[in-house]
Amino acid sequence: MQPDKRTKNIFDGFNTFFEGSPTHLAIAPGRVNLIGEHTDYNDGFVLPVALDRDVRVLFRPRSDGRIRLYALEFDSWADFEVGSRERNRNDLWPNYVQGVGLELAELGLRLQGFEGVVSGNVPRGSGLSSSAALEIASAKAFLTAADQIHALTGPQLARAAQKAENEFVGVNCGIMDQFISTLGEEGHALLIDCRTLDYRRVPIPDGVSLVIGNTKASRSLAGSAYNERRAQCEDGVARLQTALPSIAALRDVSSEELQAHSSLLSETVYRRCRHVVSENERVVAAVDALEGGDFLRVGQLMNASHASLRDDYEVSSEALDRMVDAMRSHSACLGARLTGAGFGGCAVALVQTGSQTEVRESIQDKYAKTMNIWPEVYISPPSSGARVLPLSNM
Ligand code: GLA
Repeated sequence: MQPDKRTKNIFDGFNTFFEGSPTHLAIAPGRVNLIGEHTDYNDGFVLPVALDRDVRVLFRPRSDGRIRLYALEFDSWADFEVGSRERNRNDLWPNYVQGVGLELAELGLRLQGFEGVVSGNVPRGSGLSSSAALEIASAKAFLTAADQIHALTGPQLARAAQKAENEFVGVNCGIMDQFISTLGEEGHALLIDCRTLDYRRVPIPDGVSLVIGNTKASRSLAGSAYNERRAQCEDGVARLQTALPSIAALRDVSSEELQAHSSLLSETVYRRCRHVVSENERVVAAVDALEGGDFLRVGQLMNASHASLRDDYEVSSEALDRMVDAMRSHSACLGARLTGAGFGGCAVALVQTGSQTEVRESIQDKYAKTMNIWPEVYISPPSSGARVLPLSNM
């Protein structure tokens, strides 16, 4: 295999800091979510796609229990003993790796140390799940170093990484990002049932492409507002249960039921619930439309998703609304919406294949004119999930 520039940089990094040769390269992608936002922690449905941007860990096992990793882009080190619960206070990224190790150990796996270099090209802090990619690439490295790569199923691995982020890093995310980073498939989105963790592949036909617009606007409010939305959903479920005792999550509530019992909820909580309930219905409809080749309908559902996130869930922002406008103003765009948690970060558009370069330029021009910020636009084919390459043949 002829190494590309990125691979070469990682190898150079390894040779600078470590003796001997690496044995494996673990790769885990970022993601973009086509539709199904803020539904994962409500036991609902999501339809994400793995990106062609990823986090890579080039490593070799150690005979002791130490983890020593150098992050190329951060120019900083993770250095800890497997099982240590002492958090790194200077840099955040080592905590993702450490938390994943703790969760895997919690599942009864006997882990071993490893050392190497981490490098990523998923834009950070942009809502494309660079953290989940780091977690899953690290999880693959832990499992490989311990000779236990088949010890967990994909969904189990994703769950362990989500728990690491919830409990050790302290971010209360759902399971979507870790799941798609682990199990994504080339040419496909995954329809994931976030309650059962059943999933199925949904082909993204060649005729349509995904265009991602990075607003480059900060997401500073994201953490607290995300937790507040989760709490509002839980409040909604608790109140609805007085009339609908069999429901366990908003996933179990239909639009008709929600409307019939709206008097149980405050106006704000009603709107939060209305987003989640209607978004679940939109995911199911979008899968039908994609599979039936009705891309116009998929685009309409994406537009409706954005409106619901903006008006009912209130997680959009000026920058995201302007990005979505810039995307929709091109005639090849079938629909566009914010993607990920919101409050900044990225929007995704479904675009007729063939005009991507022109679409990119048009989005950049229009967005820059209204926001005075030069955005990044990525065009990514639906890519495959995490994998580990043994390096004996490189
Ligand atoms: C973030 C979280 C996900 C999901 C989305 C919103 O990306 O990590 O679990 O909740 O927000 O859909």
